[in-house]
Amino acid sequence: MSQELAGTPVLILREGASRSRGRDAQHANIMAAKIVAESVKSALGPKGMDKMLVDSFGDVTITSDGRTILDEMDIQHPAAKMMVEVAKTQDDEVGDGTTSAAIIAGELLSKSEELIDKNVHPTVIIDGYRKAGEKALEILEKIAKPVSPTDREWLKKVAITSMASKLVADHKEQLADIASQAILHVTEKGEKEFKVDIDDIMVEKKPGESMNDTKLINGIVIDKEVVHPGMPKRTEKAKIALLDTALEIEKTEFDAKINIESPEQMEAFLKQEESMLKDMVDKITKTGANVIIAQKGIDDLAQHFLARKQILAVRRVKKSDMEKLAKATGGKIITNLDDVSEKDLGHADLVEERKIGDDKMTFIEGCKNPKAVAILIRGGTERIVAEAERSIHDALCVGRDIVREPKVVAGGGAPELEVARQLREYAKTFLGREQLAVVAYAEAMEAIPLTLAENAGLDPIDILSELHVRHEKGEVWAGVDVNEGKAKNMEKAGVFEPLAVKKQIIKSATEAATMILKIDDIIASGKTKGPPMPPKGAPGMGGMGGMGAEGAGEF
Ligand SMILES: Nc1ncnc2c1ncn2[C@@H]1O[C@H](COP(=O)(O)OP(=O)(O)OP(=O)(O)O)[C@@H](O)[C@H]1O
Ligand SMILES: [Mg+2]
Repeated sequence: MSQELAGTPVLILREGASRSRGRDAQHANIMAAKIVAESVKSALGPKGMDKMLVDSFGDVTITSDGRTILDEMDIQHPAAKMMVEVAKTQDDEVGDGTTSAAIIAGELLSKSEELIDKNVHPTVIIDGYRKAGEKALEILEKIAKPVSPTDREWLKKVAITSMASKLVADHKEQLADIASQAILHVTEKGEKEFKVDIDDIMVEKKPGESMNDTKLINGIVIDKEVVHPGMPKRTEKAKIALLDTALEIEKTEFDAKINIESPEQMEAFLKQEESMLKDMVDKITKTGANVIIAQKGIDDLAQHFLARKQILAVRRVKKSDMEKLAKATGGKIITNLDDVSEKDLGHADLVEERKIGDDKMTFIEGCKNPKAVAILIRGGTERIVAEAERSIHDALCVGRDIVREPKVVAGGGAPELEVARQLREYAKTFLGREQLAVVAYAEAMEAIPLTLAENAGLDPIDILSELHVRHEKGEVWAGVDVNEGKAKNMEKAGVFEPLAVKKQIIKSATEAATMILKIDDIIASGKTKGPPMPPKGAPGMGGMGGMGAEGAGEF
């Protein structure tokens, strides 16, 4: 029996499936990850370029934000997707440093390829990288400067650095000032440390005017206008009913026919509707509310009744805004009008409709909860306000990082160079091939100052050799000052970043690189719409692979 089977191939995968193993698989994955890193490289730093991304609907995004670039690219290769995950983790954890994380991960993989070619086994490289990563965290921790978590000047400094590399850099001082004020506004003292949640800061954007008109609002803004011209546009000492129920007569689920035979019947019917709406309005006004903010609709007739009672009403407000309003005004979201009472109402000093550009928005200021704060972003075009929103998000995140972990490092590649220098020392404590991996890690860290210099049009070799010497002499914060176009003490240049961002870059990049290195077998099912398999050696965003037909032949 077994003799009969000899020589017959055993098929275990569906026809069309493909597989590549060993070096081929590693090479394909490393290649894919490197291409991703390469694609964001030119966006690093204040002199980095922006990217114009066009999605399948033709919508255009202009950005230099690493996560946004990677998110918008329609990446298919599984290893390349892992790099996108790196940027996501980085953004979710600390909010900045996504480009750096992708670059370092790409560089770690690129260096590992050279080692694999020299017959260093991937497991040895992975071990070396892990140890180097741990050591890098220790070094960063040691060189970082402690600061006060609630010192606005420090929050402003890191916000300025994070925005220096964005499209909105011309306005970085003003925007950083707003961001740092907003952060301190929502910071609370916990038992041991300070607590801050940037979701407490509302960010609204409205194209028009200029970025200089971006403002911090002591309350909440909603992108809706007062529903009826007869209503007041401004109400002081507002008592606000937050409704999650429509002030309308509900339509029946099925078509109903009503036979009306006389004008009296018609009138009675309309009267009935009118009295139901009036009843609803009365239930609310009985509580003493003078402002209504509704998530759903308000019938014309109900609007008329409310206007007569001089109640200011806004409708079709987003659910997320309703939740923010509840938190800010101390009101409860009302779902049933039958048991509404005065205690359900929220409070604010002022509710006012204001004209912003061509539109009207409603401002709720001086809320019961003093922590309520909003940033209203203005700017020339829709794309600029969208990029400003992303940049303010980064600025808020780095501010929060400082409040949570009050330590900073200087920027411009200085910490990366210092980590690299100390890692080279550390490498000497290893015997054998692991040493090579630690040295490779050190070299990968230097991709940051190198890329900063390249993007600023400077000669990276000249600058890097000067910086190596200065670091050897003990100048920890020597880095690339891209504005002055030379090596400089970045502490003196006033460029600071949160330690938390730098630490997370190391963690995310090491994790991604080691994960990709660990894979030595790629099995792609033929049925799925997975990565298209180009012929071997054809690199490209869609299917940098090389896991082509040759692998499939094995089965
Ligand atoms: N004036 C400056 N001179 C030199 N380097 C600077 C200066 N300002 C900022 N940098 C550096 O620029 C780098 C940050 O660039 P960038 O903001 O483009 O990328 P990222 O923070 O890694 O990713 P992203 O902001 O896209 O999430 C940091 O290394 C920072 O130290
Ligand atoms: Mg940044």
